[in-house]
Amino acid sequence: MTEPPHLSATRAAYDTVAADYAKLQRTENPETPLDLAMLDAFAGLVRTADAGQVADLGCGPGRITAHLHSLRLPALGIDLSPAMVATARQTYPGLRFEVGSMARLSLADDSLAGIVAWYSIIHTPPALLPELFAEFQRVLASGGHLLLGFQVGNERLHIAHGYGHSVSLDAYRLPPDDVAEFLSRAGLLVQARMVREPAAREKTQQARLLGHKPAGRTRR
Ligand SMILES: C[S@@+](CC[C@H](N)C(=O)[O-])C[C@H]1O[C@@H](n2cnc3c(N)ncnc32)[C@H](O)[C@@H]1O
Repeated sequence: MTEPPHLSATRAAYDTVAADYAKLQRTENPETPLDLAMLDAFAGLVRTADAGQVADLGCGPGRITAHLHSLRLPALGIDLSPAMVATARQTYPGLRFEVGSMARLSLADDSLAGIVAWYSIIHTPPALLPELFAEFQRVLASGGHLLLGFQVGNERLHIAHGYGHSVSLDAYRLPPDDVAEFLSRAGLLVQARMVREPAAREKTQQARLLGHKPAGRTRR
């Protein structure tokens, strides 16, 4: 089957920038106290349900996977870019990272206690988000939790340069109401949403949506 062009473009771009992206992230700590509070709330909900593994989808260099691990969650990182996964494995040798697309996961139905997608749905064209969230719904166990982080807006940005390299990929700023509606249609209900003002070098508001798959729901 031919791969959708946005996946090939995303993989190629992140393979190109992986080492420099990871280096920059090591010297910066982009999560604000509000972001950390949402990650903490997610971890608390998953731990309370005591339901097993959490996947950090689009984990990049593994920073958030490691943070989830520090919050006592059994976290697995998955990313489209082999170079990002190699960097994550090198930086966090005690954690598990795999190459894969979150649009088609090699995970069984109802197998995850939680999903975090931190700035990783942003390269999926909005028209394909319903399909992506259907896949999240498939792998999330009943009662499982979900946390998304993304930039607020309603536009496509073409990225031609990043981290000192020429790249070519699109990123989408998204309206939180639309994302919440797509999640709900996929059977994932939003419990809380936080929209905060831009911090440091950010140009837009940032959204964090915390959702869950209601208990009793299996594959749709
Ligand atoms: C902006 S980076 C964020 C990385 C990480 N979540 C963080 O916050 O540090 C986006 C990451 O999502 C990954 N990604 C985008 N679309 C993906 C997909 N369909 N499946 C798996 N990974 C994807 C990219 O390869 C990239 O590593």
